[in-house]
Amino acid sequence: MPKHTDAAFQKCINPECGAEFDCGQAIFKCPQCGELLDALYDWDMLEVPAKLSDFGRRWANRDNPLDFSGVWRFRELLGFCHDTYKVTIGEGQTILQQNDLVADYVKIKPGRLYLQYEGLNPSGSFKDNGMAAAFSHAKMVGAKASACASTGNTSASVALYAHSCGLKCTAFVGSGRIAFGKLSQAMDYGAQTIQIRGDFDDCMRQVQHVCSELGLYLLNSLNPFRLEGQKTIMYRIIETLGWEVPDWIIVPGGNLGNSSAFGKAFFELKLLGLIDRVPRMAIINATGADTLNDLVNNKKLLWNNGSVNRKIIDDYYADLTDRSFSPHTCASAIEISRPVNLKKCLRAIDICNGVVRAVTDEQICDAKAVVGKFGLGCEPASAASIAGLKLLREQGIIDPDERIACVLTGHALKDPNVTVNYHNKKQGQFSNPPTEAPNDFDEIVKLIS
Ligand code: F0G
Repeated sequence: MPKHTDAAFQKCINPECGAEFDCGQAIFKCPQCGELLDALYDWDMLEVPAKLSDFGRRWANRDNPLDFSGVWRFRELLGFCHDTYKVTIGEGQTILQQNDLVADYVKIKPGRLYLQYEGLNPSGSFKDNGMAAAFSHAKMVGAKASACASTGNTSASVALYAHSCGLKCTAFVGSGRIAFGKLSQAMDYGAQTIQIRGDFDDCMRQVQHVCSELGLYLLNSLNPFRLEGQKTIMYRIIETLGWEVPDWIIVPGGNLGNSSAFGKAFFELKLLGLIDRVPRMAIINATGADTLNDLVNNKKLLWNNGSVNRKIIDDYYADLTDRSFSPHTCASAIEISRPVNLKKCLRAIDICNGVVRAVTDEQICDAKAVVGKFGLGCEPASAASIAGLKLLREQGIIDPDERIACVLTGHALKDPNVTVNYHNKKQGQFSNPPTEAPNDFDEIVKLIS
């Protein structure tokens, strides 16, 4: 019996190619034309429930690890492998918090803003959703060693899942480009960490080469099975909203895996008749790493039914190379200028009538401080979604009474340096520096405000 389900297959996203492959292969890019691959399904062969609320029954069966998992609870919607290969370490126990105080900051009406806290995952970021799915595929194809390039969270998550599955793990990170919380996780979880003198885009190039030469299993979001796991973030948002779709999803954009996965999730749910409308999506870059924003808003790059104007992208990247451009933002997680999922993201924008914006580091840090003060805290890249929402409100793109879900992608403790600097150095309007005090009771009492 094949290890993968007969219902699933991989397909090149390039409409002029459209080559298909079974899911028993770890290829990551179309061997015929080099484009991205999708994991697709023959839905009639999967027992997809007639309505989304049927998935809620699995809550009553939480002693089964697959029903407990916030990814595999929705397994019929990502049915590419048999249960025996499915990996879970309890990912996806995240919450959607309604937050009126953050809503007030972004000028959204009370009761309408929700924050999806992906920092509550085992390794502290949304990546674990994707790794549960991708490591299941890795096990299914018999992989022994894994690798990734990372701005930090991918390496933390890969390292954690790799040792849980007994795979070796090598993480490529840009030297000095990764927040300490994340680097400490990769080391602690036993990964081999290779610090390359370069940025994320350099690491991404190197890891693909190394993986194809040495046959390592690649865990970046080029891997279509990772995106299948990340679709479930959207299912959980809908689940918490009583199986209703919000008006907007707002997500930071780096390598564009999340936005691509979310667009695919909604396309499929609509196709299956499980939702009656698709929400709009806003993807938020940092201004120091704003390739998507530039290409979509200034160069007018479109999905165009899959016939993406390749010349616009090639010219853009050639210019980056000519200028020796390297992206810079305090939101190091999204410090990426050649996002590998660009085309899938254009498709998601098409599906979700999406918009793209870029926000400054200052806007990101202020928004992060507001989430810290009134929410559960998040890392800088995650706060780009709140800063982006504020901008979209100011621009009148989003109305105050629309129902909005912002994805807070990573935990506040991932990058304490940015937080401490913001407060200590009084960098923004919400800075809350500590008060120096002599070691004297009376003097201390005088200082209590
Ligand atoms: N937020 C956080 C906290 C991230 O770690 C990342 C990506 C993103 C947002 C962007 O998500 O790539 O799906 O658009 N981090 C990757 C990494 C690149 O290596 O950890 P995306």
